[in-house]
Amino acid sequence: MTTYKLPHPKDFESKLHGKNTHLITLTNRAGMQIALTDYGARLVSALVPDKNGNLIDVVLGFNSIQGYLEAKEVYHGASIGRFCNRIANGKFALDGKEYSLDQNNGTNCLHGGATGFHTRVWDRQVSFNKQVDFYYVSPDGEEGFPGELKTTVSYELNNENEIIIKFRATTNAPTVVNFTNHAYFNLNGEGNGDVLNHVVWINTDEFLPLNENQIPTGDLYPVEGTAFDFRTPKVLATEINSPEEQIQIANGYDHSFANKQPISEPIASAYSKESGIELQVFSTEPSIHLYTGNFLHEDEGKSGRKYLRYGGLCFEAQHYPDSPNQEKFPSVRLNPNEVFESEIRYKFNIKK
Ligand code: BGC
Repeated sequence: MTTYKLPHPKDFESKLHGKNTHLITLTNRAGMQIALTDYGARLVSALVPDKNGNLIDVVLGFNSIQGYLEAKEVYHGASIGRFCNRIANGKFALDGKEYSLDQNNGTNCLHGGATGFHTRVWDRQVSFNKQVDFYYVSPDGEEGFPGELKTTVSYELNNENEIIIKFRATTNAPTVVNFTNHAYFNLNGEGNGDVLNHVVWINTDEFLPLNENQIPTGDLYPVEGTAFDFRTPKVLATEINSPEEQIQIANGYDHSFANKQPISEPIASAYSKESGIELQVFSTEPSIHLYTGNFLHEDEGKSGRKYLRYGGLCFEAQHYPDSPNQEKFPSVRLNPNEVFESEIRYKFNIKK
């Protein structure tokens, strides 16, 4: 059995873009511990007690800043901005003016471009071992987006084994924003095989079909009768290789589902019988994107084991992908004098 520990803070002390990087740890009274770094305002580890009381690290990641810099998969645990997921052709128009973004995913702009928020060293403030606030000011024109954007991401670990993530942003000119957290979870422990035996539940009737460039077609499809129906909990392996066109386009699940639940009700969960750990996801955002690590590149993770295809799953709570180009989707526009606020909660339970 693997003994999981938090990485060593010394291995996160580095200097990037003239700023010092750190590892910050939070603990709660239930024995859960998490580690975060200001490089990408990211979640590095989450040690959660399993059904036998052993601490299991359920988040994929690396043991040092160097590990994150060398990884082929660059989004592990990161705060994604200023626009997560894809924008078709790396272009959008706002008030009649066209903006060109970095095309870092075929012709799409993915996760804010190659030097998105996941690559930035954020300022930080730690409160009482319980909460960390990360700050980043994105200059006007960064990665092609208009407006200087002031962003805060705060992480709190409470005594109910919940990681509460809050995003807040203001701008000095009209712009578009969409934030998410990109933690990959493996409830059997990071590096411990794949997540295909996890039981997944998503409480929604509709998902967003994609075109061949993984851009939403603009429609909402009923999940009924498709591989996307998770209204009754289902082992992830069941239909991940389904011949359905939507599964084939993405090599597995890489799709957004409509979220009509209030923040007080879970939109999704995953459960591993092996560890007895259940993850529930709550969010204010209109969609939840399920990504099953279809393109994980065999990076070697914290416990020295390779992260294989399907080695982790992400529940990315966010606005709909490509919203700036899709009139029917909820607006992602942020104006000066407005405050963007969103919240994601990852709650861990033991089910025996
Ligand atoms: C996207 C995937 C992408 C991955 C990057 C996910 O949020 O939906 O398509 O490959 O991020 O690793």
